[in-house]
Amino acid sequence: MTLLDVSNLSIGYRLRDRLIKAVDSVSFSLEPGKTLGFVGESGSGKTTIGMSLLRLLPENASVLSGSIRFEGRDVYSLSDESLRAIRWKKIAMIFQAAMNALNPVQRINEQVAEALLIHHPKMSKRDALARTAQLFESVGIPENRHADYPHQYSGGMKQRAIIAMALICQPLLLIADEPTTALDVIVQGQILKVIRAIQQEMAIAMIFISHDISVVADVCHDIAVMYGGRIIEAGQRSEILETPAHPYTRMLLASNLTLSDHSFDMPTVHQSRKANIRHLGSTKENDMCPFVCHCRQITDHCQATPQKWMVLSSSHRVFCNNIAGDLTK
Ligand SMILES: Nc1ncnc2c1ncn2[C@@H]1O[C@H](COP(=O)(O)OP(=O)(O)OP(=O)(O)O)[C@@H](O)[C@H]1O
Ligand SMILES: [Mg+2]
Repeated sequence: MTLLDVSNLSIGYRLRDRLIKAVDSVSFSLEPGKTLGFVGESGSGKTTIGMSLLRLLPENASVLSGSIRFEGRDVYSLSDESLRAIRWKKIAMIFQAAMNALNPVQRINEQVAEALLIHHPKMSKRDALARTAQLFESVGIPENRHADYPHQYSGGMKQRAIIAMALICQPLLLIADEPTTALDVIVQGQILKVIRAIQQEMAIAMIFISHDISVVADVCHDIAVMYGGRIIEAGQRSEILETPAHPYTRMLLASNLTLSDHSFDMPTVHQSRKANIRHLGSTKENDMCPFVCHCRQITDHCQATPQKWMVLSSSHRVFCNNIAGDLTK
């Protein structure tokens, strides 16, 4: 059975006198044990999607349309009690910049054990600490460091502890929001290795969020590329990396290639076009390409006509009607 099914999800934030659409008509699904990566620039709506899956959106946010089904149940129709049974036990999240939120005056293994005890109040503290120790070994925290305080940990060690905390209740789905962004490149590689190993060992499904397509490509089976609140391309990792179709995906990949590789050219940003900030209220506007201001392949057709999804394979789709030629070039 599909673990997670998100259909036509749109989310808005109320600001003083207006509503900004942060997530626009997003659909995707996730099978048990699979990893789906969301990649896109800052403000493209990645965290908003992640938070919505756990019903943790801020006060001024609202789901404008669509549905989120987890194990076949509509997350937004669940009672508080049913929601509590899912949060952390079935869906856990590593929050963006979470490692700064560790309690500075409590030993790290106790913090993680406490997270387990909150959800399993009948468990003894000893068992909770034993389970924590086991998990710490899996994420690479040596035994002599289990009972340290956060200030004694490096950034990489803190992130290992945060990963352990998210996994302590053995969730079916882990949402990891930029889990390596604050780390230097060597430590980032180590943490990605831990995440890959755990994903395989525990067969856990994962939504992995990053602005860095090379990081996403390192850990994900499937990739969804976001721009301006929309998924603009989605497919299997090999399809996105080898035959990227959307001009924005090609731009993201080009920025990850070495300067000596000329297979992709960086698109020119059309500075003269005004920023594409979309407000609610116009259905027609919502169907327009969100990348239109920055696309070097733009035609008059792009600006005048609502976009439709183009299906490139059973798993690869692109929200651009101006795709032509050989996608491998
Ligand atoms: N609480 C809020 N109130 C109003 N607007 C918000 C709020 N949170 C996010 N937004 C806006 O919603 C849009 C999407 O934000 P979101 O944090 O989901 O993006 P993101 O892709 O996670 O970005 P980043 O890579 O910087 O983490 C942005 O335009 C952001 O400014
Ligand atoms: Mg974010």
